[in-house]
Amino acid sequence: MNNRTIVTLPGDGIGKIVLTETLRVLTHAGFNANYVEGDIGWEFWRREGNPLPDRTIKLLEEYKIGLFGAITSKPKDEALAELAPELMNKGLIYSSPIVGLRQYFNLDICIRPCHTYSGNPLNFIRRGIDENVEEPEIDVVIFRQNTEGLYGGVEWSNPPDMVYKGLLTHPKFVQNFSHVPKEELSVSTRIFSKKATERILRAAFNYARKNCYKSVTVCEKPNVIRETSGMMYAMARDLQKNEYKEIEIWNTNIDAQMMWLTKNPENYGVIVAGNMFGDIVSDGFAGLIGGLGFASSANIGKEVAIFEPTHGSAPKYAGYKIPIVNPIAMVESACLMLDHLEENTISAKIRRSVASVINEKKIKTYDMMHLHGAPDVIDKGAASTTEMVNAIIERL
Ligand code: NAI
Ligand code: MG
Repeated sequence: MNNRTIVTLPGDGIGKIVLTETLRVLTHAGFNANYVEGDIGWEFWRREGNPLPDRTIKLLEEYKIGLFGAITSKPKDEALAELAPELMNKGLIYSSPIVGLRQYFNLDICIRPCHTYSGNPLNFIRRGIDENVEEPEIDVVIFRQNTEGLYGGVEWSNPPDMVYKGLLTHPKFVQNFSHVPKEELSVSTRIFSKKATERILRAAFNYARKNCYKSVTVCEKPNVIRETSGMMYAMARDLQKNEYKEIEIWNTNIDAQMMWLTKNPENYGVIVAGNMFGDIVSDGFAGLIGGLGFASSANIGKEVAIFEPTHGSAPKYAGYKIPIVNPIAMVESACLMLDHLEENTISAKIRRSVASVINEKKIKTYDMMHLHGAPDVIDKGAASTTEMVNAIIERL
């Protein structure tokens, strides 16, 4: 496929740096594509009062695939204060453009792989029997429902009368909250739909089947959150019994899972969860394989898909003359894009190169040296962003 067009969305801060560097890797790896840049981020909020201009949405509608760096978000009041003078007092409210993209295109399936790279000095280690040090090999892929649940945005403080009356029909609400004045109540809902739940479950099971994982773990809390977590687990059990018999289904509670992930992370394969718990468990596993410099993600909808590192725009590192941030999370995100486009030979080649650089232990960005990020890390022997990418390209 030669005429594919990818919408690049550099955004703010280090998003611009890691995305530019990653495009070099894609080109050297032999990925043929045209790139068109979509405007997104803080600059467009300040200048136009919209961090996600319609023209960017149109590009994604047309080309379907986005490669996103990171954006800067700030609290409501701070955002207002930075608007261009002519845009002030127009009632504009800032909201995160990446969250906006996930909602607009219904990018409901979020995939976050966490794989150990052998030789990464940031790998999780633990004490084994006989006091020896063990470095478990982690190979986990988290499937997070990306649009519903606690991130669905259905919430109130001092709920309107109709909502309050509705709540009063629930015996638990009467028992626990009816003595609280309505003005003192804040309610955030956790709504799961069957359709979206089935989509994330199927995505997880299909991935496990295709990639030969032996288990799918539903990581929720069905013993307490009976309706939503309970529905997800019951649906997962039915699916497994009827369609995915060869894959084991495991059930963990999010709290216990966070404890187990440092005890036996190597036991898990595919994990599936709702929005909030998926976010939590994926950050937990990402910490075991090197943290933000290594954590990649895919946001996939029926039509459009956007690939991005988990990290943000890290503004304090954005203005360095020599960029120091780790590009691997972004490179890995590009590999997820290649997988999605069924360019598996190219993604495998890039991943082998990244693995080889890490395993050689010569080229390390500052985070891999346990250094505090500052311009002088280069003098202390840390590789710059560009040097890391050059090393990856050399091995392609
Ligand atoms: P952040 O992820 O930008 O940075 C946190 C810290 O992690 C950095 O100070 C740095 O020490 C480290 N780090 C991040 N990326 C790294 C990399 N590639 N290599 C090495 N070290 C790295 O999160 P923070 O500081 O909380 O937020 C900064 C801005 O980013 C905020 O405006 C926030 O709203 C936004 N943000 C955007 C996200 C997105 O675009 N998806 C996600 C998270 C935050
Ligand atoms: Mg998170």
